[in-house]
Amino acid sequence: MNARWEFRLLRLWHAALAGGFLVAYVTADEDTYAMHVFSGYWVVGAVVLRLALALVGSAGGPLALPKPRLTWAKPGRNPLFAWMAAILVGGMAVAGVTGIAADVIPALEDLHEGLAEASLWLVLAHAAIIAWIFQGRRVREMLKGSTAALFAIALLAAPAAFAADAARDAIKAGYARQAGPGFAGFSPERGRALFESKNTASPDYASCTTCHTADPTADGRHAKTGRAIKPVAVSANPKRFTDAAKVEERFDRDCQTVLGRVCSATEKGDYIAYMESK
Ligand code: HEC
Repeated sequence: MNARWEFRLLRLWHAALAGGFLVAYVTADEDTYAMHVFSGYWVVGAVVLRLALALVGSAGGPLALPKPRLTWAKPGRNPLFAWMAAILVGGMAVAGVTGIAADVIPALEDLHEGLAEASLWLVLAHAAIIAWIFQGRRVREMLKGSTAALFAIALLAAPAAFAADAARDAIKAGYARQAGPGFAGFSPERGRALFESKNTASPDYASCTTCHTADPTADGRHAKTGRAIKPVAVSANPKRFTDAAKVEERFDRDCQTVLGRVCSATEKGDYIAYMESK
């Protein structure tokens, strides 16, 4: 590969990384969780890709990864660049990986947020230093590239952002059909009553709240095994009620445990409606 192509690739990669990071940063909110996850994986993928690009690039070329040096001993690029890039890309990579891992180990959530926050400051510092050194040249090119990447990623991620809501709507629509002719819509209020009701079918599990706790936005805890259960409210856990098979299986099991009978389609829809309202 000649150096010009390598530079082009590098610029494309830079746009993909910067765009992915910015999308991930601004979509960290619960409402845009799916897009956040998508762009987080994108960032981690971009970092891995960068390492792969270094392997295909020519020795000492634009794609090669110079070892960050501590001194200006050898002529060439300012060692500050390599350090800045290594710290920045490393920070983003760890932020991405802790974000993915936080799905399994919720305790990593704080570390993930801290790293993402720190990375943003590094990005701003990086942009300021580059702008100062190049005085506007190149900066416009990079900005153009990043803006294009931003749009591309947002477009790619948009279906994912709606997928969770669509899946939940489909599950509710299924219950509405099963509910039959007299059905007049689901009620979050009835869902709440069901969730908080005290029952006598099983002495150990009087209520849904026994394991899911009275606050649907809080982490639950299995009353017997002690294992943590993620929040049931959709606002706190956007993946809730999106896997039809799992939802059915759990309703079957948990209704049987707590109520000593299966839940009706209307009760299931009410329950989901309540969790969507929380
Ligand atoms: C013995 C503890 C326990 C009780 C009591 C309990 N649940 Fe659960 N529930 C769980 C566990 C464990 C999961 C699976 C882990 C998870 O989804 O985070 C779960 C998951 C669910 C899910 C799946 C949600 C999804 O997003 O897929 C539904 C629906 C559910 N419970 C409904 C109920 C209802 C309704 C009641 C009360 C009638 C109830 N649960 C009572 C332990 C319990």
